[in-house]
Amino acid sequence: MDRQKIYNTLFVTPDNEEGLKVAAEAVKNGEVVAFPTETVYGLGADALNGDAVRKIFEAKGRPGDNPLIVHIWDKSQIDDLVSEITPCAQALIDAFMPGPITVIMRKSDKIPNEVTAGLDTVGIRMPEHPLCNRFLKLCGCPVAAPSANLSGSPSPTTAHHVMNDMDGYIYGIVDGGSCRVGLESTVVDATGEVPVILRPGAVTGAMIDEVLRTRSEYAGALKQGQVPASPGMKYRHYAPGCEVRIITISSGIETIDPYEEKLSDDKKEKLFSLASPFILEAQSILKDNPTARIGIFAGNEVKALADMAGDEILSSHLCFYVYGNACDVEAAAHGLFDGLRLLDRQEVNVILATGFKGDGLEVAYMNRLSKAAGKNGDDVPSKAYNEISEGGGEVPLDFFDSVFTASVLFISDDDRNLGAVLEGLFTQLIRKKGPFCSEESIRIGAELYAESAGLNASEGLTPDVRMCEAYRRVTGESVAHHLSSRMEVYLLDSNDLILTVNDQQVLTLLESYPELKGRVYSLSSYMASKGLVMRGERGEVASLAVNDPAGGDDEAYSHTVAALKAWLEILFPYIIKDLGAMRFC
Ligand code: TXA
Ligand code: MG
Repeated sequence: MDRQKIYNTLFVTPDNEEGLKVAAEAVKNGEVVAFPTETVYGLGADALNGDAVRKIFEAKGRPGDNPLIVHIWDKSQIDDLVSEITPCAQALIDAFMPGPITVIMRKSDKIPNEVTAGLDTVGIRMPEHPLCNRFLKLCGCPVAAPSANLSGSPSPTTAHHVMNDMDGYIYGIVDGGSCRVGLESTVVDATGEVPVILRPGAVTGAMIDEVLRTRSEYAGALKQGQVPASPGMKYRHYAPGCEVRIITISSGIETIDPYEEKLSDDKKEKLFSLASPFILEAQSILKDNPTARIGIFAGNEVKALADMAGDEILSSHLCFYVYGNACDVEAAAHGLFDGLRLLDRQEVNVILATGFKGDGLEVAYMNRLSKAAGKNGDDVPSKAYNEISEGGGEVPLDFFDSVFTASVLFISDDDRNLGAVLEGLFTQLIRKKGPFCSEESIRIGAELYAESAGLNASEGLTPDVRMCEAYRRVTGESVAHHLSSRMEVYLLDSNDLILTVNDQQVLTLLESYPELKGRVYSLSSYMASKGLVMRGERGEVASLAVNDPAGGDDEAYSHTVAALKAWLEILFPYIIKDLGAMRFC
């Protein structure tokens, strides 16, 4: 699409009230003006004027077949713009407007086709940004706006980003400083009975769920991770010119001030475990390519460790964008687009960017970061856990930008028969159903494994011969190599989920380690926590008590293996999800 530099773009500084009025007047007269919001900058025109809206697409350099969001300053404007406000739309409006959310509703006749790209729905958004709201009010009309970036650039989070992309192509830019959130709004389709999140943002699924939960008709109804019918999806998303590798850090690590005068050994160790993956990755890149320039988008702990290492050659290859403390996902989200723009301009060969696990703002952050990391920027629909199916394909490890490990610990009494069988069955399932990747991004691999230990176990004993035979009969594989091990405290820390054979073992563990609450379950309590009920042949609720068949006949042994196998197959998708992984598709 042809772009023509026809404007001497007006730049309105934050305290220039006169300039703000001039810019608003221009919008009334059918011109395009960029304005700040708490998420990203928008490129606005009078939403009721189709000709004005067309100018947005000319400035952005993309065809007008992607629907635009309509921005308002007062909720009373909504009635005129939509033909229906469903109860769930009303609940979202009440709870989250003004704020970083866009609610999709059926449009009214007043909205021209240029805004909605021919759809019969429209996205309405009321930003939470005082200068923005003053500007919109001065415009006096609903303002249609996409993000104010050039097609193919990341969304702008400062007026200078907009200036870089739009100078000369639009009437004016209102400078409102750096956008607080830094990621685009949550887009929620509220035309149906239940809301569907089309694009994650700072209003998280959990926050929406919470609001709807208080209305009994919606309890648990939120659909997340659905393949969205969002027309914008076919557009290339921003990806820097270079490769982006994601290095996921564990959330919940306490913030360490790396510049504290006397760092205790404990803190040094934490700092090292948090920051060293970046340094190691940089070193390995330099090994292959000694002239590489490496961009690092990370917390100040990482910069500090690089400084402490005192390796001047390494440092001379690194180009840092420090967003704040490593574990501060809000700071990372705020800085993400700015950081990617800046590092891209430094012409680095690769960017190592911090990844986060978590289901709050982490979801929106990882959504944008994964798109930046995906070479073709295509949207990858996330798979629901219950779609995990028989897999077994091989994925070359270098497909992944990074790999995390996660594990289950099976606790029994002596870790001989039952421990061996549970660990063996689970390991087999991982092998058969894998490979796995992170729930947040298919660019992050997940290496899953199982361990077992016994509360009263002797070390190094193999299972009963009869158990080994039964295991082979049922599964065709062997557990004869399994050696029992005693439960040690480090095992409780190093495993993500702990499953015990019976309820008593849960109580025993919680008595000594109350901090394990939420991470330790018996097989039956885990099943119940997922709302699953096992039924026997006659439809009765089956008991999940697992007994060691020792002393029984062959059939008792086989029965135990077969029952555990059936249960684990049912629980497997839930366990995978709890480990933060999904089947790689
Ligand atoms: O935070 C934001 O939402 C920013 C600021 C400026 O408000 N705006 C923004 O606009 O990000 P844009 O055009 O870059 O993204 C709007 C997204 C697109 O993915 C589009 O497809 C979707 O919202 N969208 C808009 N109207 C829609 C509709 N009626 N149905 C489905 N998706 C819609
Ligand atoms: Mg955009």
